[in-house]
Formats: sequence, structure tokens, C-alpha cells
Amino acid sequence: MQRYSRLAIFLHWAIAALLAFQIAVGWALEDLGARGFALFQWHKSIGISILLLTFARIAIRYWKPRPAPVEGGWQGALAKAVHAGLYLFMLGAPLTGWALVSTAKVKVPTLIFGIVPLPHLPLPMSTHELAEGGHGLIAWLGIALFALHVAGALRHHVLMRDGLLWRMMPARSPLLLFALPALIALGFVLGRAILPEPAPKAAASPAKPEAVGAVEKRRPPMQRRSPTTPPTPRHRPKPTMPQRLRNPLPRRLPGRCSRAGPSAFPSATAARRSAAAFPNGRRRS
Ligand code: HEM
Ligand code: HEM
Repeated sequence: MQRYSRLAIFLHWAIAALLAFQIAVGWALEDLGARGFALFQWHKSIGISILLLTFARIAIRYWKPRPAPVEGGWQGALAKAVHAGLYLFMLGAPLTGWALVSTAKVKVPTLIFGIVPLPHLPLPMSTHELAEGGHGLIAWLGIALFALHVAGALRHHVLMRDGLLWRMMPARSPLLLFALPALIALGFVLGRAILPEPAPKAAASPAKPEAVGAVEKRRPPMQRRSPTTPPTPRHRPKPTMPQRLRNPLPRRLPGRCSRAGPSAFPSATAARRSAAAFPNGRRRS
């Protein structure tokens, strides 16, 4: 049985797993907003890496000998068309993503893996909608082609028993037969797993007492207080400005501390100065 070169096999499975990761993260990006800044950078960095790996894969396709097609007729033509579609997906997904960030109103700089700056493509801003729509759509086209591709591969391997899958495996090992396709599922699961927690809902309004209770319960017990409990020192309200001025000096002055001069305690100093300026504790207008 002839098989693809080791390099082609490596790129086939690595790109497939990275694409699954990209889709899993991509679907969450819009809802993350600013919280997803780091993920946006990862998504863009991995996307551009996929683009470069795909160029390498296409070059290897023509450089290294590859096995002859197993089938002719319309099934062979369909397999070829699906492969061509998958190449278009591998190129189109990163290119539309790059176009969409290059034409956005707010130009967020991209640093590939925090190191290499990605220039913006010289495209008119009017193409933004097209790029954005295309980027979302191409992911779904890729998923449809992937389903056809896997169905075709399984038809050969399981129904026709011609061992087609071994052509895309580095060795004839049943472990690899499961492990390599499982990398795609792993890429997707990893992409979902690294998403940040959903944003907490907007602050509870006073009209919802149960929500207030939930917030209250989360406080440490020392701070919990029912409306009837008298305020403990911890809950004593902050003194208002005039009260502070009437009683300006803190009980424990830091005077003995040799290293801390007055400037290190600006609030005490400021309070003393204010007390001198307004001896009655009231500002005279
Ligand atoms: C290489 C493969 C890539 C795949 C498979 C992919 C996939 C996706 C998917 C499925 C979405 C969600 C789209 C939606 O729900 O409408 C998305 C969003 C996004 N992608 Fe990609 N992407 C890739 C590469 C890139 C690249 C290279 C960039 C930029 C340099 C990029 C930038 C973005 C941005 C900014 C969003 C959010 C769009 C929005 O908020 O509307 N993507 N991606
Ligand atoms: C479980 C998933 C997958 C399996 C089992 C699988 C299996 C295979 C096999 C057996 C071949 C060789 C076909 C032949 O010799 O005629 C092949 C080729 C190919 N696969 Fe996959 N594949 C999978 C996922 C993917 C994904 C996700 C992509 C890309 C998005 C992809 C892109 C390709 C391409 C473009 C070829 C043609 C290579 C060439 O001749 O240039 N595959 N795949």
C-alpha cells in the first residue's frame, strides 16, 4: 500500500486539529468582547500559522510523490472536488479572518504569538461586512466538506475494505487509526475548555431580594449583617467630611516611625491642615 509522505501526513492531521480548535474558539469570540482579548490574539496567531502550514502542505503536494487516486468515475471526481474544497477552506478561513480585522473600524494590532506584528491588508473598509460574513460562512462550508470527506474515507476503509485510511497514517497501527482522527476532537474540546467563564450577569437590582441575598451569602460571615443587627465597627459608616474635620487626628499617629515622614501619611497631614483652616468644622462660604 502506497502512502503519503510523512511530512504530508503530519501536516494533514496537525492542520485538521488546529482548524477544529479555531472553530471552537471562533464561535465564542463575538460574545467575549474585551474579556477575550488574549483569545483573539491566540485565534489570529493560530489562524495565520494555519495559513503558512497550508502553503507548506501545497508545496509538498507537488514536491513529494503521492499515491495515485483509488477511484475514477464520478466518485473519483467527487473526492477530488472535496479535496479542492478543503484546500480552499484551509486558505479561505485565515484569509477572510485577516481581511475582517484589517477592515474593522477599530484597528486592533495583532502580534503573532506576542512577537511578530501582523500588518493589515490594504483593503477598503467597505469590504468589512463581506469579510465578516465570509469568515463565518466558510467555517460551515468547511464542516460540510469535512463530513463528506470523512464519509468518503469510511466508505472506502470500512465498506470497500481497501485500507484507504492507511494512506494517511505514518504506520499501519490500529492505535494511530483512532488516535490521529481523535486529535480533531481534542482540538475542538481544548478550544471550548480554554474559554473564560461567562461574564457575571449585570449587578443585582434592589427589586430582586433573592439576588441580593445571593451576593450577601458570598460575603465572609464576619461581614454578614441583617438589617436589625446594630452596626459593628466593621460596618460603621464612613464619617462624612465635617465629622472628620471636627475630629481630625487619627488615634494612632505614625509619628514614632522614623522612616515615615509626614508626606508618607498625606491624609493625616491634610486633615490637620484642614482643621486649622476650618476650626468650627464648617467651611465658611
Ligand atoms: C484559520 C482558520 C480560522 C478559522 C477556522 C476561523 C474560524 C472562525 C469562526 C468559526 C469564527 C466565528 C464566526 C461567526 O460566528 O460569525 C471566527 C471569528 C473570528 N475570527 Fe476566525 N478563524 C480562522 C482564522 C482567523 C484569522 C487568521 C483571523 C485574523 C487574523 C481571525 C479573526 C477572527 C475574528 C476577529 C473573529 C470574530 C469576528 C466577530 O466578532 O464577528 N480568524 N473565526
Ligand atoms: C477524521 C477526519 C479525517 C480523516 C479520516 C481523513 C482521511 C484522509 C485520507 C484517508 C486521505 C487520503 C485520500 C486519498 O488517498 O485519496 C485524506 C486526504 C486529504 N484530506 Fe483528510 N481526513 C480527515 C480530516 C481532514 C480534514 C479536517 C481536512 C482539512 C480540512 C482534510 C483534508 C484532506 C485533503 C485536502 C486531502 C487530499 C490530500 C491530497 O491528495 O492532496 N482531511 N484524508
